[in-house]
Amino acid sequence: MKLFIDTANIEHIRIAAKWGCISGATTNPSLIAKEGRKLEDVVKEISDLIDGPISAEVAEASANEMVEQAKELAKIHRNIVIKLPMTIDGIEACAELTKLGIKTNVTLVFSVHQALMACEAGATYISPFMGRVDDAGDSGAELIEKIMTMINNYGYETQVIAASIRNLSHVEQAALAGADIATIPFAVLEKMVKHPLTDAGLKIFKDAAKK
Ligand code: E4P
Repeated sequence: MKLFIDTANIEHIRIAAKWGCISGATTNPSLIAKEGRKLEDVVKEISDLIDGPISAEVAEASANEMVEQAKELAKIHRNIVIKLPMTIDGIEACAELTKLGIKTNVTLVFSVHQALMACEAGATYISPFMGRVDDAGDSGAELIEKIMTMINNYGYETQVIAASIRNLSHVEQAALAGADIATIPFAVLEKMVKHPLTDAGLKIFKDAAKK
């Protein structure tokens, strides 16, 4: 499973990019607003740090308007992927951008039906939201499993980005369900490295080395 970083914080991206295991980035309007910066400036800077897909989300509008926004965003860098909302207009825009050869990420996916529509529209990526599904009392892990089954049944090329990841369990569940990618907040990425037995083992080895 590929690991993307889910943030618009350039300092966090700069640090994580050095680790050599992050192959893409995703942003959304909330993450951009948190940084108080312009979307275009943020994704331009991310593309200087990460050589991989970088999702930039259009503002929700009519299909034609979103296609026009997408064309402008796509000019920023060859790695820009256009994030589109899972709406009728978003699907229409997805099909149009696919024809134009512009990569897409259909976001806010919460059901197999929605995923199927996005796959049929030629989405490069879809983003099912694990954390928000759990918040609503359902299972984000089951959603990923079902979407993976549907995609494998029909051989769609659309890749699944497990999104709205809040904790280590989400990462593990996404990987076990076969998600292509998980997009992960910086704090969770940092936790992925750690295990108390690794720390304990290191201490034992250090003490032994001193002797
Ligand atoms: C990424 O593509 C999504 O926008 C993000 O993971 C949503 O996360 P949240 O549900 O924690 O806002």
